Amino acid sequence: MQSLPGFRDFLPEDCARRNYIFARWREVARRYGFVEWEGPPLEGTELYKKKSGAEIVEQLFNFTDKGEREVALRPELTPTLARVVAAHEREFKKPLKWFSIGQFFRYEKQQRGRLREHFQLNCDIIGENDLAADVELVALCIDILRAFGFAEKDFVVRISDREFWTDFFRDKKVPAERWDDLLQAIDKSPREPREKTAEKLGDLADPVFAALKSGRKSAKLEQLVEGLRARGLADFVAVDVGIVRGLAYYTGIVFEVFDPAEKFRAVAGGGRYDNLISQLSDGSLSLPALGFAMGDVVLGELINGTSRTREAMQKAIANDSKIDIYIVIAKEQRRADALAQIQQLRDRGYRVDYPLTPTKVARQFQSAEDLGARVALLYGDEWPQVKIKNMGTAQQELVAGDKLLNRLVELL
Ligand code: HAM
Repeated sequence: MQSLPGFRDFLPEDCARRNYIFARWREVARRYGFVEWEGPPLEGTELYKKKSGAEIVEQLFNFTDKGEREVALRPELTPTLARVVAAHEREFKKPLKWFSIGQFFRYEKQQRGRLREHFQLNCDIIGENDLAADVELVALCIDILRAFGFAEKDFVVRISDREFWTDFFRDKKVPAERWDDLLQAIDKSPREPREKTAEKLGDLADPVFAALKSGRKSAKLEQLVEGLRARGLADFVAVDVGIVRGLAYYTGIVFEVFDPAEKFRAVAGGGRYDNLISQLSDGSLSLPALGFAMGDVVLGELINGTSRTREAMQKAIANDSKIDIYIVIAKEQRRADALAQIQQLRDRGYRVDYPLTPTKVARQFQSAEDLGARVALLYGDEWPQVKIKNMGTAQQELVAGDKLLNRLVELL
């Protein structure tokens, strides 16, 4: 029996790496005043059909449930967020700053950096029109990557503005019904042969290619970069109007994060979607919104591929996996006394391990070392005294059983 293509098994080391990523995500999102929330993993298929755009709908893991409902495993969080906010917005002061960490499913062609399940951090700000929110969001995205040890040379946030293109289309008198298809064609253009893009763009091919080449930007984009410059973060970003994002709901500033050589797919992406909540609530509620998601797959590859970030991760994981105390049971008669103590130590929050069955003393000390214990406690002939061995210095001392807890507080 094998796992399905594109699905991962998480062995303990993989879980440790995943938890390391989650911990940094959570830590920095909280530093920015974001609060955590979560949605359901299964939603009505309609939600995505209406809101995400054609590409994601093709990739849905969907089925009819036993109640004859059309349902889909979530491919992304944004439509759920819009649905939840539309239902609960009165309960919260604006702007909302919400983050969420969860698993998502897309029936994609498997390729480097793209699987059929992945984890995302989503960070969204709801109820703020001002560009200050866009600056804050991009800064958060940069700081999350910095928290893993990445520097300016390790990644670039490519920033663009969909309004640059909608203004461009308006200027060229392109009917609004064509805009979505044109934006999709521009989004795919870096990954497709020029002729194919030209065919999709039709009469607009030449002016679009010229605009892409010109490096022009809007005043809004310049302001955004200035906002980041004031925080010392401008060197992490590059304006690139070729970024338009595949999802249908974006309305303004959009961005994607790549490794500088663009060896990998995007590590994160997001932007403004000011109309989505209004569309989902059939116009009864209108709230501006913006957000991004960062995936664990490309991020994991980038961390592994950069020695600084890989070492930081390995160090953090090694520290986190260590136990505090290993109990060596040298005489089986002392097992009951040792277990009573183990219970007390664990109640106090120490990480404690011991051999479940009789084991040679040398092997027990080996386990103490393998598990990274800071001290080993030896229960043997010395009882009612216990021998404490400092595993770092190999120093040993004898302590009376009833004084042990106090001595451990001093040592650990
Ligand atoms: P997205 O660009 O579709 O945006 O996905 C965000 C990130 O999730 C990607 O940059 C990538 O790292 C990761 N990702 C997506 N699909 C896969 C996959 N098949 N395998 C591995 N990783 C993947 C969104 O999902 C938007 N909802 C983000 C957003 C939040 N916009 C506003 N708020």
